[in-house]
Amino acid sequence: MPKSATISKNGLDRILTLELVRVTERAAVAAARLRGRGDEMAADQAAVDAMRRELNRLPIDGTVVIGEGERDEAPMLYIGEEVGTKKGPAVDIALDPLEGTTLCAKNQPNSLAVIAIAEKGHLLYAPDVYMEKIAIGPGYPQGIIHIDATPTENIRALAKAKGVAVNQITACVMDRPRHAKLIDEVRSLGASIRLIGDGDVAGVIHTTDPDETGIDIYMGIGGAPEGVLAAAALRCIGGQMQGRLQLNTEEKIARAAKMGISDPNRVYDMTDMARGDVLFAASGVTDGNLLAGVKFARNHIDTETIVMRSHTGTIRNIRARHQNMEKFS
Ligand code: FBP
Repeated sequence: MPKSATISKNGLDRILTLELVRVTERAAVAAARLRGRGDEMAADQAAVDAMRRELNRLPIDGTVVIGEGERDEAPMLYIGEEVGTKKGPAVDIALDPLEGTTLCAKNQPNSLAVIAIAEKGHLLYAPDVYMEKIAIGPGYPQGIIHIDATPTENIRALAKAKGVAVNQITACVMDRPRHAKLIDEVRSLGASIRLIGDGDVAGVIHTTDPDETGIDIYMGIGGAPEGVLAAAALRCIGGQMQGRLQLNTEEKIARAAKMGISDPNRVYDMTDMARGDVLFAASGVTDGNLLAGVKFARNHIDTETIVMRSHTGTIRNIRARHQNMEKFS
């Protein structure tokens, strides 16, 4: 059992950063066993079970604030569930044991097991609704993009800041009918679009390494929980992000109000979504630009995880070979 973690003047105890790796590794391996089987629910459930089991071994007094859904719709890792040994700091947890369930079921790239941890009260308690998002990676002047600017304005500003022509910019957008207008506008400007079927946590993170991923900017509407997770990742790597909840019915406005959201039109900056010292970890389930997926060999299992902490800005890539197969059975 790990020793108790604490909150010091430097934020969360760094011991927790490495403990998180085990949590996402276990979820990724459990989901990966069901890759390509066409059963999204089974893969998700396997990841949830594994992540919850491992989380309950962590020396934290944790509360799930972004999870598998509301208490009455998700039996495990629901919003409000308390996890951990309780012998440690009070923390908020945002998690998605299998981000990109469809990608995993179809054995397509970029499905991940993801978790973020912050001090209590430091993550946005977002309802499970859509969120409009815009994000770019590090190295640009603050404020060059804005969610209220037009796609044309944002792409022109980004191209100028990058020192390239507009036709050298690629925007990542989810392949959904709701984005038809956005896609048309970006293409008619001469910029390129990378359409993704699912998995916009990875989509946002990909903006942080355009040389590797070919993606400069993320734009469009995806899940709000995924928005908070992506903001937590960018807090660690650097970059800029804004989000606005899509609270377009009375029912959604009321649901958000119950979670403390009084202004349904508020624009959230990255630090409104994830404040203070933030820890983030993601393990690859299927192969992707960011991480390799789980590999099963006869006598071992290989995993790849990225784990990072906002306080220090340290980003670790951990490739692990697990030889004690029983731990994963
Ligand atoms: P799941 O892992 O819950 O299936 O979410 C996948 C995802 O693609 C997210 O990455 C994204 O934010 C959201 O779904 C978009 O929702 P929708 O499929 O309804 O457009």
